[in-house]
Amino acid sequence: MTLAIIAAFCTSLVAITWQLTAERIASNKKEWLERNLQPALAGLFFDSPVTESMLLIPPPHELPGSETAIIYRVYAGEEPVAALFVVSARDGYAGPIRLLIGIAMDGTVTGVRVLEHRETPGLGDRVEITKSDWVLQFDGHSLRDPAAPRWAIKGDGGDFDELTGASVTPRAIVNAIRETLSYFDANRVAVFAAPAEIEGESSVGSK
Ligand SMILES: Cc1cc2nc3c(=O)[nH]c(=O)nc-3n(C[C@H](O)[C@H](O)[C@H](O)COP(=O)(O)O)c2cc1C
Repeated sequence: MTLAIIAAFCTSLVAITWQLTAERIASNKKEWLERNLQPALAGLFFDSPVTESMLLIPPPHELPGSETAIIYRVYAGEEPVAALFVVSARDGYAGPIRLLIGIAMDGTVTGVRVLEHRETPGLGDRVEITKSDWVLQFDGHSLRDPAAPRWAIKGDGGDFDELTGASVTPRAIVNAIRETLSYFDANRVAVFAAPAEIEGESSVGSK
């Protein structure tokens, strides 16, 4: 009985703490995201609050990863200028790698950043911008530059550098960027036509 009471008390405590902090966590996350979205839009003029034009694409979808994908539409006035994708590279060394990928309307990459990962410090974690500039090599490339077979790491016959002693992480990221470019190419109109998101209701790109 005593144990049951303690267990019930602890469960209630966890539930209350979660309720009290959920909103604050969401707001901090949004603020953090808004700040961190900027580097993936290098060289673009835009004046829209990026996080307010969000689309949630629940799985299953054609974007990389099995989690919900997020797309932020970016505008200058009424004019769409880019889309920012938050997707997951599936085959990281230690699990999915959450990526932010900016793509301009002409299909060129405006920036890539690694948002979350569990790759090994000193090996796979050099994909973080704070550790090396590896991730900058994608800027300005598009689905057709380089052409499809060369959208791969050099070790696989492609154009992109890997990291010394760590090709698994770079391969996963290169594949995810290529798949995201391909998705944008096929769904560009639908992506910008969709209304601002209500969680779980998007059908853009869902299978
Ligand atoms: C403990 C441990 C952790 C590793 N972590 C990573 C990692 O985070 N990312 C990665 O690409 N490879 C990692 N590797 C190396 C891979 O197993 C693989 O050998 C390597 O990616 C192949 O790279 P290479 O083609 O440059 O030899 C790790 C290896 C070990 C033993």
